[in-house]
Amino acid sequence: MGGFAEFDAYIRARAHEYVDELKALIRQPTVSAQGIGVEDTATLVLERARRAGIGAEALRADGGPPTIVGETGRGARTLLVYNHYDVQPPDPLDEWETPPFEPTERGGLLFGRGVSDNKGNLMARLQALEAYRATIGELPLRIRVLYEGEEESGSEHLAAFVAKYGDRLRADGCIWEAGYKDAAGRPTISCGLKGIAYVELRVRGAAKDAHSSLATIVPNPAWRLVWALATLKNERDEITIDGFMDEVRDPSAAELAELERVPFDEAGMLRIHGISHFVRDVHGAELKRKHFFEPTCTICGIVSGYTGTGSKTVLPAMASAKIDFRLVPDLTPEKVARLLRAHLDRRGFRDVEVVPSHGERPSRWPTDSPIARAAVAACRAAYGVDPVIYPLMAGSGPMAQVCDALGIPVTGFGSGNAASANHAPNENIAIADYVDHIRAFGRFLSAFAGRPLE
Ligand code: BES
Repeated sequence: MGGFAEFDAYIRARAHEYVDELKALIRQPTVSAQGIGVEDTATLVLERARRAGIGAEALRADGGPPTIVGETGRGARTLLVYNHYDVQPPDPLDEWETPPFEPTERGGLLFGRGVSDNKGNLMARLQALEAYRATIGELPLRIRVLYEGEEESGSEHLAAFVAKYGDRLRADGCIWEAGYKDAAGRPTISCGLKGIAYVELRVRGAAKDAHSSLATIVPNPAWRLVWALATLKNERDEITIDGFMDEVRDPSAAELAELERVPFDEAGMLRIHGISHFVRDVHGAELKRKHFFEPTCTICGIVSGYTGTGSKTVLPAMASAKIDFRLVPDLTPEKVARLLRAHLDRRGFRDVEVVPSHGERPSRWPTDSPIARAAVAACRAAYGVDPVIYPLMAGSGPMAQVCDALGIPVTGFGSGNAASANHAPNENIAIADYVDHIRAFGRFLSAFAGRPLE
C-alpha cells in the first residue's frame, strides 16, 4: 500500500473530522477527583477503541473505576499505549474564557478541559491507528492499550489492576500519555516522571467559629497552620523538613552531561507564566538541574475562616492546607509521610494532623532505549527537526506502577505545548500540533517495528 505521504494526506483531509471527534470527548466531563462522569466517559472510550479495531474491554480491580485494556495488530514487538481519560477539576470556572466542557476553537487553538491532558493524545493515537491501516497497511507490531480513569486523582487502584491483569499489559516499550513542545516550540520527548506525595494538613481550634475579640484567649488554628507550614521551607525556597533532602540522590555525571545538551527557553517560560524571574533566581545549568532533578513542596491550597465578599471578624475553628511534594529518587510517598510527621512532632506541632491522600514513586528510563530511539526518529520525520530529549517530565503519574512493575522501558511525546495550561483555566492545544501528533504517532509505530519511515 502507500507510505507516509499518503498517510499525511489522509490525515490532513480528515483533520476537521478528527478535531470534531476530540470535541465530543471533551464535552463529556470526567473529573475523577469529584467522581463526575467517569463511567460515561469509559463507555465512550471503550466504544471508540473498539471502532479503531482494538479488542477492548473495560475491567476493574478492587472496586476502582473502569480501566480499558485491549490489543490489536501483530508483529515481533509489542507496544503499550498508556493514556488517561479523566481530567482535573475545571475550577476556577470564572477564569475560563469559554466553558471548560464546551470545546472552542480560537486562533488555531482548541480550548477545553482535557484537550492537552490527556484526551487529545488518547484520541489522536486511535485516529493514527486507523489512518495507518487505511493508507500504509496492517499494523507492524502488536499494540496494547491501557486507558485509565483516575490518573488525575492518584491512580489508587492501578497497582492492584496491574497485579491482576499485568499479563495483558506486557510489552517491549511503552508510550506514556503526554508530551509537550517547549516554550521555543521545539518538540520534546521524555523518559520518566517525578513521583508525588499528596497530603493535607489539618488543624482544629475551638469547637466552632467564634467572635474574633476572643483571639486574646482562644487559639487560632489558622496561625498554627501558618507557623507549621513555615517550618517546611525557608525563604530561599529550600525544603527544610528534617532528613528530606538527605533522601535526594544526586543526578549522575551522565545525566548532567545529557542535561547540558537540553536547550531551555528561559525567556519564553518567563513570558508564558507572566513572571520576572525564576525561584531563587536560578538560570542556565542550575535552572535545568533544579527543574528536572529537585523535589518540590507546594502549597496547592489553604482554607480557613472567611474569604467571601467584604469583611467578617471571625476566629476560625479549623484550618487546612493541601500540599504536594514532587519526588525524585530516592524519595517515596511513605518516606515523605514519615519524615513530615516526625518533623512536625519534633517542633511541637502534634496538633497538626497529616492526612496522606495519594502518592506515586518516581520513575526513570534510559533515553537511548529502542522505544526512545523510535520516538526520536518519529519526531524527526514528522516535524523535520530533532526533538529535545528530556530525561523526564517534571509532572507525575503511575509510571512506576505500570512500567517499573512490568519492566517496560518508556518514552513520551504528544500534542501539548508549554502554554497548554494543564490543570489551569483555558487549557488548550494548537490544532496543528494535534494533527502533527497523529502524523508522528504513525511514524512511531513503524520506527518501533524497525520499518522504514518513508
Ligand atoms: N500529563 C500530566 C503529567 C505532566 C504534567 C507531565 C506536567 C509534564 C508536565 C499528568 O496527567 C498529571 O498531571 N498528573 C498528575 C498526577 C497526580 C495528580 C498524581 C500530576 O502530575 O499532578
